[in-house]
Amino acid sequence: MNKFIKDAQKILTGNRKRGYTLPTNNKLYPAQWNWDSAFIALGYSYFNLNFALKEIKTLLDGQWKDGMVPHILFHNTDTNYYPNHTAWNCGNKIRSSGITQPPILASILKQIIDKNKITKKQKLEIKKIIIKIKKSHEWFIQYRDPNKTGLVSILHPWESGYDNSSLWDEPMNKVIIEKNIQYKRADNKVINPEHRPLNIDYDRYVTIKNDLRKKKYDPKKIFRTGLFNVIDIGFNSIFLKANKDLIILLNKFNLNSSKIKNYVKITERNILKFFDKKKGTFFSFDLRNKKKILVPSITNYLILFADINNRKINNVLIKNLKKHNLKEKYFFSSIKPNHKSFEEKRYWRGPVWINCNWFIYKGLKNKDGKYSKKIKQSTIKLVEKKGFHEYYSCKNGKPMGANNFSWSAALYLDLKLSNY
Ligand code: GLC
Repeated sequence: MNKFIKDAQKILTGNRKRGYTLPTNNKLYPAQWNWDSAFIALGYSYFNLNFALKEIKTLLDGQWKDGMVPHILFHNTDTNYYPNHTAWNCGNKIRSSGITQPPILASILKQIIDKNKITKKQKLEIKKIIIKIKKSHEWFIQYRDPNKTGLVSILHPWESGYDNSSLWDEPMNKVIIEKNIQYKRADNKVINPEHRPLNIDYDRYVTIKNDLRKKKYDPKKIFRTGLFNVIDIGFNSIFLKANKDLIILLNKFNLNSSKIKNYVKITERNILKFFDKKKGTFFSFDLRNKKKILVPSITNYLILFADINNRKINNVLIKNLKKHNLKEKYFFSSIKPNHKSFEEKRYWRGPVWINCNWFIYKGLKNKDGKYSKKIKQSTIKLVEKKGFHEYYSCKNGKPMGANNFSWSAALYLDLKLSNY
């Protein structure tokens, strides 16, 4: 077996706890994270299908009664992480955060089912999983899009998964930091602070969190009165694709898909309103302050993953994507390098992230085979050369953040072993 495949498997099993897997083996993220777990499950599916299903099942064990799947589950409450379970003060069966993360689970599960032989017992488990995923999608539709526009909101930058992206600079600047705010960050003790979000960002993250907590995470109330309410195009692209995949899963298991089907129709129609013809890219929208967000983030291209049925727009997007970091050595900087907010080393403000490359590679497979292959090969090369890190410089591949990073290992396995 290829050495790197073995290493990737070792990272995943090394980070595995009881039924779930940490994002990394250092002290940076000592809990179960939502979209990390989905990517991790895909990685396991290449060598241990039961681990894959267990990872998903454990994540869904933390689902709230209303349907939300939290962004963090604190299985081990004895940690130094901030904000920890006491700072959030919520959870259903498992202590958790009070916000969610990109709903990638349905798409991951569909991919796992498509390429594996499933036993009868596993089929029963999968059916239960699908019912829970459906409930979580219905939660998004009900509470994050109360006006049925076809697009859902995020109410905290952490919900996007790209925490300190410059996409959030304007809406975050409007958030007035709580008076005498008190908390102790732990992340910048573990990782070089120059590669992490700024203190002022954290002040605002905590302010928003405290506001949500004060409102008891009441989903109707926080949508109306939240300090941050953004329609993010990357997030909605993931949700659109996940809804399409969920419909296939529901049909396969003889479950009703009419509500989701109807929602997909509305999304497909209305998402096109977020296309800027002049710039040739999609934009996000700050719903709280009624303002377009035109930051050139790589996540605006996740719309390719959603497979919208519009060849003309897809072609324009691909043309612009090819210019996103033309001069840099590695695909894809999280923010376009010539933008004023670009920072080579600071987390989601410039570095390359393996999951973003993976989304775009998947999205391009049926649209520009040659280019998607190029992205895949460049991503594989980056990981093999620099290791399984959290993020990398687009200029020279310098690895940064956590080492032994689970989703980099998991998605490496998918890139390397999916037969394409
Ligand atoms: C950071 C990332 C987020 C990820 C988490 C755990 O918060 O921004 O996307 O899920 O770390 O890896």
